[in-house]
Amino acid sequence: MQDSTAPEPAPNVSGADDTVQHPYRATAGPRRVRTRHFQNAKSQGIPITGLTSYDMLTAEIFDEAGIDFLLVGDSAGNNVFGYETTLPVTVDELIPLTRAVARAVTRALVVADMPFGSYESGPDQALATAVRFMKEAQAHAVKLEGGQRSHKQIRRIVAAGIPVMGHVGFTPQSEHGLGGHIIQGRGEAAEELIAEALAVQDAGAFAVVLEMVPATVAARVTERLSIPTIGVGAGPSVDGQLLVWTDFAGMTSGRVPKFVRQYADVRAVLTDAVHRFTADVGSGAYPAPEHSYE
Ligand code: KIV
Repeated sequence: MQDSTAPEPAPNVSGADDTVQHPYRATAGPRRVRTRHFQNAKSQGIPITGLTSYDMLTAEIFDEAGIDFLLVGDSAGNNVFGYETTLPVTVDELIPLTRAVARAVTRALVVADMPFGSYESGPDQALATAVRFMKEAQAHAVKLEGGQRSHKQIRRIVAAGIPVMGHVGFTPQSEHGLGGHIIQGRGEAAEELIAEALAVQDAGAFAVVLEMVPATVAARVTERLSIPTIGVGAGPSVDGQLLVWTDFAGMTSGRVPKFVRQYADVRAVLTDAVHRFTADVGSGAYPAPEHSYE
């Protein structure tokens, strides 16, 4: 049933079975999003939507609003813990955030981001980290960065029955190696980027994030791959779009990347609320009698 008060409905990842009509969605879709629904969505040309989330309340809101997947990104390093980059954040810091997000959702697929230093040593380390996210945080899948260099790690994790989302293009954990926040896959580097994405697919990942890649190159990757591509600054010709929630909702102070569309100004709303609260307390307007116990 369509709710007439709901905002403009969004398309849906498709589910051939176990479908329900979500109030915010145009078409019926799965009661619970699974990795197989990502594949259905790609085959049917239905865009997949994802946001980052780091806590129970945003996860609940985004899930109820009909998002397909939530990434507990290592961007929590910047957006929760206040580090300058994603590099310092640890598995121990991300597990409680992932657990909170996983507890909050009823529909969205929850993907746990494996932080820098938690998988590079080899497949054994990678599997041990992935198992921690699945067991201690009840994530539904994990994500890790890198194409060919992460092939063995992805393969080992997938062999253990844990779905993996890959991540190529600009990979923030390598920002020092890459020389900063630089668009990847331009010019002659396009072929290398396509090879990276193919390596992720070959290793058994169910989807791959393409971050900060020219739109034409992302379109070529999407065409070549049988698994869905999820764009973050990769233009429109991909199978899904992912944004960091603090950017998309206007929480982030300072500059946000060019590819972000800001859908709300939550920072301004909260700033205004604090100003009014401070003024009310100063003037004695708050608390009023209705806020006080007899
Ligand atoms: O941690 C994160 O938010 C991410 C996305 C930007 C892809 O990895």
